[in-house]
Amino acid sequence: MKINFIRAFEDNYIWTIEKGEDVILIDPGEARPCFKYLKDKNLYAIFLTHKHMDHVGGVKELKEKFKEAIVYGPSETENLNDKTLKDEDEFEIFGYKIKVLKTNGHTEEHISYLVENNLFCGDTIFSSGCGRVFTGDYQSSFESVQKIKNLDKNTLIYPAHEYTIDCLKSSKRIIKDKIMDDAIIEAKEKISKGLPSLPTSVEKELLINPFFMAKDLDEFKEFIKIKN
Ligand SMILES: [Fe+2]
Repeated sequence: MKINFIRAFEDNYIWTIEKGEDVILIDPGEARPCFKYLKDKNLYAIFLTHKHMDHVGGVKELKEKFKEAIVYGPSETENLNDKTLKDEDEFEIFGYKIKVLKTNGHTEEHISYLVENNLFCGDTIFSSGCGRVFTGDYQSSFESVQKIKNLDKNTLIYPAHEYTIDCLKSSKRIIKDKIMDDAIIEAKEKISKGLPSLPTSVEKELLINPFFMAKDLDEFKEFIKIKN
């Protein structure tokens, strides 16, 4: 499976899944860099994880040019969707099996897309971090993390922001282990080469993400407090 990325804003990644000239964009918050990327390609579909503008802001413009592109998204982006998805929906694109996981907490209806063993999780989690709980529904955020951590350990995870180094630094207050410094060095190396620090994996997050380690909701909330 060919997966690539387009940079947007300060630190967003618009992940792509591609087959030949056909491209799926995940959370195109901005149209301009996508148009540039799609110069000799076709926009086949758009996957939206949640309603925030830095994830959906490019959709209308992209659809004006690529009228055939199918927009998938949760109920909270209904005005942009051709197909509205809910938890555990399954469909197929490019011959790949896609499963929808409701991973709310950051927003009310946030979803993630499991494409074979690649999880596009929007702002649900970041490497060594967790999306801000705008809903105040910490229980849902905790449950969303449980869903992700229970996926196959080889699952690759593609968050929508390059927050890895900041997250690792604040997580060091909770996980006091050399593995955190090693992860910071590794992330810095990739970024200095012009690459994302991502994807991460379930296996890796089990070692470096305090929210994967929280044993219950109280501890989960405690870790949020410590990290902030
Ligand atoms: Fe967001």
